[in-house]
Amino acid sequence: MQRVLSEMQASGKLHLGNLVGALQNWVKLQEEYECFYFVADWHALTTGYAHPEDIKSSTEDILVNFIAAGLDPERSTIFVQSKILEHAELHLLLSMVTPLGWLERVPTYKEKKEELKDRDLSMYGFLGYPVLQSADILIYRANHVPVGVDQLPHLEITREIARRFNHLYGEAFPEPEGLLTKFPKVPGTDGRKMSKSYENAIYLSDPPDTMEQKVKTMKTDPARMRRTDKGDPEKSPVFELHKIFSSAEEQAEVAEGCRTAGIGCIDCKKVLIKNLFTVLEPIWEKRKALIDNPSLLQKVVDAGTERARLVAQETMRDVRSMMGFEWGQ
Ligand code: TRP
Repeated sequence: MQRVLSEMQASGKLHLGNLVGALQNWVKLQEEYECFYFVADWHALTTGYAHPEDIKSSTEDILVNFIAAGLDPERSTIFVQSKILEHAELHLLLSMVTPLGWLERVPTYKEKKEELKDRDLSMYGFLGYPVLQSADILIYRANHVPVGVDQLPHLEITREIARRFNHLYGEAFPEPEGLLTKFPKVPGTDGRKMSKSYENAIYLSDPPDTMEQKVKTMKTDPARMRRTDKGDPEKSPVFELHKIFSSAEEQAEVAEGCRTAGIGCIDCKKVLIKNLFTVLEPIWEKRKALIDNPSLLQKVVDAGTERARLVAQETMRDVRSMMGFEWGQ
């Protein structure tokens, strides 16, 4: 069976964008592939090294949501990056054959630096982010990596590193392919892309009344100042969310109501809230069960870690032997 691997970085809590952009797809992939899903807690240090105390709660939130959203620990290997020390060993070895130019050319390197100007990101680890990511992927000899378009340059580096390693030391790694899934753009409450850094996110951990409140204060078409003003649904981020969470029928109804001023923005939002609740109620229920019983989550992650470690160790035995690190015990 072909192997899929993906992960989420432990910087912040998971939101609706992560759910429809990644998690729901990961759940489907379980049917066809052997899947490895993990929380990249070391990667969180690349931009968040000054606040390592935030990483633990983010890791817990992500693990809980993984399972609440439908990742099945019986079928998928679910674990935490920092528990598998072999990632660090492979990262070190790969760093020896990764030209600086490849890393400096990655668009996210410059973009993130620009976006997070308030932090000093002139760090070795930040530049080397894609090398650690490559170690994460190659150590499991993954064939497919579901990622967003913005991650394709990282994956290209992974493929280049794999090629270079295989050429220098022997065929250790398959070249992983990106699995691009088309998913809708998920706007946040202010209409920009939903992101924790914009403070416009609706989190899976938000209680129902918080979620309701967030939707009720969302921007809509600015032309609709009064209830009687007609609007254009395509100018309202609320309608973008309807496209993801509401039936075609409901979408047509609220769009028509918006154009003719037949309904108010609050009516439109109520339909969305109802549909969001339908998607989230089972997730909330599972979240509660997991949070009430922390030893259950612990068991699941321990078992996943165990499984992942065996695979990582086997790869590292090959890698060490190919490179000649076999001296003594
Ligand atoms: N770069 C990814 C992101 O920002 C995180 C990541 C780290 C990753 N290691 C990975 C993704 C391995 C896929 C596979 O979301």
